[in-house]
Amino acid sequence: MKTIDDLQVAGKRVFVRADLNVPLDGETITDDGRIRAAVPTLAKLVQAGAKVIVASHLGRPKGEPDPRFSLAPVARRLGELLGKEVAFAADTVGDGARRVVDGLADGDVALLENLRFNAGETSKDDAERGAFADRLAALADLYVGDGFGAVHRKHASVYDLPARLPHAAGDLIAAELTVLKQLTENVKRPYAVVLGGAKVSDKLGVIGHLLEKADRILIGGGMAYTFLKAQGHEIGTSLLQEDQIPAVQEYLARAKERGVEFVLPVDVLVAPGFPDLKTKAPANPRAVSAAEIPADQQGLDIGPETRKLYASKLTDAATVFWNGPMGVFEHPDFAEGTKAVAQALVESPAFTVVGGGDSAAAVRILGFDEKAFGHISTGGGASLEYLEGKTLPGLAALED
Ligand code: 3PG
Repeated sequence: MKTIDDLQVAGKRVFVRADLNVPLDGETITDDGRIRAAVPTLAKLVQAGAKVIVASHLGRPKGEPDPRFSLAPVARRLGELLGKEVAFAADTVGDGARRVVDGLADGDVALLENLRFNAGETSKDDAERGAFADRLAALADLYVGDGFGAVHRKHASVYDLPARLPHAAGDLIAAELTVLKQLTENVKRPYAVVLGGAKVSDKLGVIGHLLEKADRILIGGGMAYTFLKAQGHEIGTSLLQEDQIPAVQEYLARAKERGVEFVLPVDVLVAPGFPDLKTKAPANPRAVSAAEIPADQQGLDIGPETRKLYASKLTDAATVFWNGPMGVFEHPDFAEGTKAVAQALVESPAFTVVGGGDSAAAVRILGFDEKAFGHISTGGGASLEYLEGKTLPGLAALED
């Protein structure tokens, strides 16, 4: 895989596919981690005298312009972080983009509007994606792939565009790969993995793979309730993916066979319903045994005993990978589980990797110092699929 240092970028129009998909509350960016992570590559290109064209997706608009998903707030923040003006193009391949790109001097930066405002970006049809990639390619001389969070997507700007331009990987992708390799090759043991988040179905692939690699797997978040149900417990009105129960049971059996320690919550925090994340009104949670969740209550975080248990399982690990919050951390009543895992990682001498949009954002929103972790990945789905051993389209496209 070539890197930026292999390209002659001075005076060239360089298209940088970044992942600037940040959480927004209206026009306010609630976590700018991904923008900050994109800066070193962009600053290097500016320094080298390239005309830098940055492109990204934000959210999941439906293939047409939708102001709720505009990248305009991101352009402003990127300008602040780079310490220079970032020209914002109101479209991606139309007149606006061409005008902005034509106006770039060496060392200037422009950000295009959300790539997913075009149906061609995410199309399953190769020809439709290819046609959009052709139009993107016409804007630039060189391509730098640096949107690690999106490399698992077979999208026009990630997969088809690099085939049309001389290309290289940016510094963020290179850094992410260096770290993730340490979780797949010669891992220092014990290797503990903490998985959370809402859906079991999103994590089954990685759990299957980790059963061959990890010594210990700790489960939290909404997905824990499907595991508890699979063990025969009643889970009240907690999140359940009933169709995943057979797969979960098979994994629990496989873990036993292979001697992998599979740890589930022993207690949880429940409330009568999902908390209000806007008003953050008190939700009056109470801790109950994970084996006795009342029929009219919903599990929304791991409980105090589980917090202690999970911390103890992480302190003597040599390597820890964590993906997915332990509860509804956006509400203060249900943030303690996620905080406890983050705190255990901070205190652990292990090599710790936080993977994932949500857990990475949680760590920052809850006020932890990013530097206290070994690495905070910008990739959620991307880091999971990498650990699953899958071929990622956006990485494959940068090979050669
Ligand atoms: C992410 O947030 O994981 C990446 O930006 C990819 O977004 P997507 O899941 O909408 O493709």
